[in-house]
Amino acid sequence: MEDKKDVLILAIESSCDETAAAVVKNGREVLSNVISSQIALHTLYGGVVPEIASRKHIEKINYVIKEALDQAGVTLKDLDAVGVTYGPGLVGALLVGVAEAKAISYAAKLPLVGVHHIEGHISANYIENKDLEPPFICLVVSGGHTHLVTVRDYGVYEILGRTRDDAAGEAFDKVARAIGLGYPGGPKIDKVSKEGDPDAVHFPRAKVEDAPYDFSFSGVKSAVLNHLNGCRMKGEEIVQADIAASFQKAVCEVLVSHAMDAVRDQGIRKLALAGGVASNSTLRRMMQEACEREKTAFYRPSPILCTDNAAMIGAAAYYEYRKGVRHGLDLNAVPNLRLGER
Ligand code: KG4
Ligand code: ZN
Repeated sequence: MEDKKDVLILAIESSCDETAAAVVKNGREVLSNVISSQIALHTLYGGVVPEIASRKHIEKINYVIKEALDQAGVTLKDLDAVGVTYGPGLVGALLVGVAEAKAISYAAKLPLVGVHHIEGHISANYIENKDLEPPFICLVVSGGHTHLVTVRDYGVYEILGRTRDDAAGEAFDKVARAIGLGYPGGPKIDKVSKEGDPDAVHFPRAKVEDAPYDFSFSGVKSAVLNHLNGCRMKGEEIVQADIAASFQKAVCEVLVSHAMDAVRDQGIRKLALAGGVASNSTLRRMMQEACEREKTAFYRPSPILCTDNAAMIGAAAYYEYRKGVRHGLDLNAVPNLRLGER
């Protein structure tokens, strides 16, 4: 039996290619975290196919939710709320989770709390760091987003910088495809880079004029493509591992330097990583070293909580729930939902 004061939330995430459900207690304790990945399926096509993603979500979602409840040892009667990602993401994929959450909310008479996907990624940091509280600086690096934010309070974000073009994860995925590593690019570049020389090729570290916290990754991506063309024209060998390691170093250096500038300028000596790219081993190491140099506390979720999952949605939903946020049965998927918007 749960203590009456405890808040148990069933969380659902289906914004891209993972069908996920979790039961989270008081925003920080994960009782179950079930993820059904579609990666193998989309690998056949070299990337996520939205229509296939939606159909797979429909097939899997009931099983995933049942498994999450079973693993947590709870039934719908034990829950206090249902949390669900309602944006941003693929509209058809989001709709599956939103419709499911609304159905459960209606049938089990549970409050419904819609969650912003990126707020979920940020909140993943609360799960393993019980002492972490706002304010802190968070670098959000996912497949669709690259944001540098000050988390002023739970659910209160001040966006310091964002990408002007590709997201960091998108750049990893595109470069991986260009050098023949295929999908999903980020983890493959991470792995193959361990065999490569990060100083083999110098790729540009882009700065955005008048916006010191903004990012731009299209230049480094083009530089990799130009380098590949140059090698082919000169008949030079293309060393996959060296290019991967050099590209990864260029991207990570920019991410680390912007994040540390924010830490210094804002005078907030707490830095957290969030999003799929936050599981990158080089980024984690470089950021940790920088934080040690700058006497800044460093937080990063375990890799499984960095990539898409529902436990992070449960953490975010808890703080929204505590603030009194409730959504009606008219909640809709919002594919381009902005952070901080309701
Ligand atoms: O946060 P996420 O799971 O989904 C989105 O919300 O977009 O992020 C997925 C992105 C993909 O671009 C993937 O290639 C990248 O995160 N990623 C990585 C690593 N693991 C996942 N990028 C670099 N290194 C990794 N180890
Ligand atoms: Zn994500």
